[in-house]
Amino acid sequence: MPLCEAAARVEVLRREIEQHNHAYYVLDRPTIPDAEYDKLFRELQALETEHPQLLTVDSPTQRVGGKPLPEFVQVRHAVPMLSIRTETDTEPTGARAFDARVRRELGLSEADAAIDYAAELKFDGLAINLRYEDGVLIQAATRGDGETGEDVTQNIRTVQRIPLRLKGDAPPVLEVRGEIFISRPDFERYNQKQRALGRATLVNPRNGAAGSIRQLDPAMAAERPLSFYAYGLGETQGWVLPDCHSAVLDALAAFGLPVCEHRAVVQGAEGLVAFHAHIRDLRDALPFDIDGVVYKVNALALQQRLGFVTREPRWAVAHKYPAEEALTTVEAIEVQVGRTGAITPVARLAPVFVGGVTVTNATLHNEAEARRKDVRVGDTVIVRRAGDVIPEVVSVVIDKRPTKDLFGGEPLHAAFELPKTCPVCGSAVERPEDEVIARCTGGLFCPAQRKQALLHFAGRRAMDIEGLGDKLVEQLVDAAIIRTPADLYKLGLVKLANLERMAEKSATNILAAIDKSKATTLARFIFALGIRNVGEATAKDLARHFGNLDAVMRADNDRLQQVPDVGPVVAASMARFFAEPHNIEVIEQLRAAGVNWPEGESSAKLSSPLVGKTFVLTGTLPTLTRDEAKDMIEALGGKVAGSVSKKTDYVVAGAEAGSKLDKAQALGVNILDEKQFRELISP
Ligand code: IVH
Repeated sequence: MPLCEAAARVEVLRREIEQHNHAYYVLDRPTIPDAEYDKLFRELQALETEHPQLLTVDSPTQRVGGKPLPEFVQVRHAVPMLSIRTETDTEPTGARAFDARVRRELGLSEADAAIDYAAELKFDGLAINLRYEDGVLIQAATRGDGETGEDVTQNIRTVQRIPLRLKGDAPPVLEVRGEIFISRPDFERYNQKQRALGRATLVNPRNGAAGSIRQLDPAMAAERPLSFYAYGLGETQGWVLPDCHSAVLDALAAFGLPVCEHRAVVQGAEGLVAFHAHIRDLRDALPFDIDGVVYKVNALALQQRLGFVTREPRWAVAHKYPAEEALTTVEAIEVQVGRTGAITPVARLAPVFVGGVTVTNATLHNEAEARRKDVRVGDTVIVRRAGDVIPEVVSVVIDKRPTKDLFGGEPLHAAFELPKTCPVCGSAVERPEDEVIARCTGGLFCPAQRKQALLHFAGRRAMDIEGLGDKLVEQLVDAAIIRTPADLYKLGLVKLANLERMAEKSATNILAAIDKSKATTLARFIFALGIRNVGEATAKDLARHFGNLDAVMRADNDRLQQVPDVGPVVAASMARFFAEPHNIEVIEQLRAAGVNWPEGESSAKLSSPLVGKTFVLTGTLPTLTRDEAKDMIEALGGKVAGSVSKKTDYVVAGAEAGSKLDKAQALGVNILDEKQFRELISP
């Protein structure tokens, strides 16, 4: 192709590729199939090879072009990169104090109007300054000491979400500031891949981001799944700035830069408080870590008036949340035996306050994880508790590991090893070749499994026997009064009341609860049996599909797999369970004891308006508990999901409904209160 024709084609290709990049990485809305994209990309590469004089630094082919550097070059920032004051009071008072301070500095009285604030997330990564000249990325620098940073342009070019060329009418000089970070899913995926290749993993997303940007070899940086959000400006030339911060961010988004959608302009202290609470509810659902939110006085003129103290602006503050990670020490490592015999190593910890609660245990998941993290007794560890998830040990602070002598050397405690026999029943512990979970082979001979199986059987969503908790099951099994669920229905008052710390009245109550549990549903009964891989949803599907227990027990592999969501694994578990004469015996005893359910309930609800509809429950309803509402919906053939999406048909909202309600409104999903919900289900 002649040069001038090639030059024109190269331009077209670059523009088109950048557009697809923007759609894919920034907007998360791919516009062409990967194969088509690859074709454009290869065509551009070929033209650039044919005509090297056409090559420019902002070509999409040049994202990973650079050679390893001997060291980073220092860059002096045209406008210093400041930091923000941190408000460590994580309560609403923290937000109110900031608003009060701003008003005082501006000389406002109570009679004056509320101040507008731009409220954003505080991303947890590494601050970066991107310098665009005439719309082209020419330099990227770290914050350094705020005056001077390091030139990391080569590495930043590898970040797909950062445009090499801005869209639209970009000013002659535009410096964009923002945060480089790694999202949680990207972090997990990257580490998993590294582990599979036997390579080093990243300790946490934050260190991963910082470490990646400070790689001298851009090829290494390119392998790291880095993300970026813009949150402010550095130097600008030839640009008439908008008059407020939120409009600056809008403008940056229009230039093709990624700007986080979770931001708002709010009024006054109470607006800040509401934003802080809103993001706290959203925090665990975000795909990346934040340690707080940032409030900025929105009007740039007011920002100017407020100015700076030392190196921090008076017009901005970071408002934190309680930490989700904390340091503590490991006092012991024990193993727990679950209902299906799964052996789980658990670290017993010195009590530590994290994520809003005191944590004393953290799961190590399984043998491989425990080995990988190499947690030992006496170690100082980072514990994480995010939202409602089970606390876990993130990593060991290896420098603090106690050693046998003062001068380092051999660790005081040995690496964790899974016991060869079950600590509860002494049966062999086995781990099939292709599985990560080791199990006690004792089955219901193992008291630990028996106890867990009984607790599961009596559970609220299974047979729902009120009052049959941990302690009582422990006593009943240890005293050999009960071996199987069927034994529960043979319990007499005398035996029960004779147990230690058992008053006659509570014994009577428990017997009444056991008696009441006899009238149940097929789905609850199947779930209560505790068949491996048969959870509540599968039990319901089975009950709905077969209508009665005999049909479920008789079903062969093929018929089982006709049930929605039942695959070979579930079918095999069921075959194994029903092939065990002991299990059949227990089922017969339960039926003989009077446990019953309406058979053939599967067709009753075919005419219900709820069949096939998906509901989401949020907030507190006036008279119904969440479980009650869920049962009502499912009894009529509807489904209950945990989060709102376009596929949600109804959101049933009560008091203090949070982000799910907001999302439902945004998506235009039908929203019902309890009264409307009741009308819907009983027209
Ligand atoms: S604005 C003059 N906005 O927090 C104000 N910073 O100490 C300059 N950060 O490491 C910063 N999210 O990288 C701002 N939405 C946000 C932020 C944010 C995270 C980081 C920033 C710096 C630190 C500020």
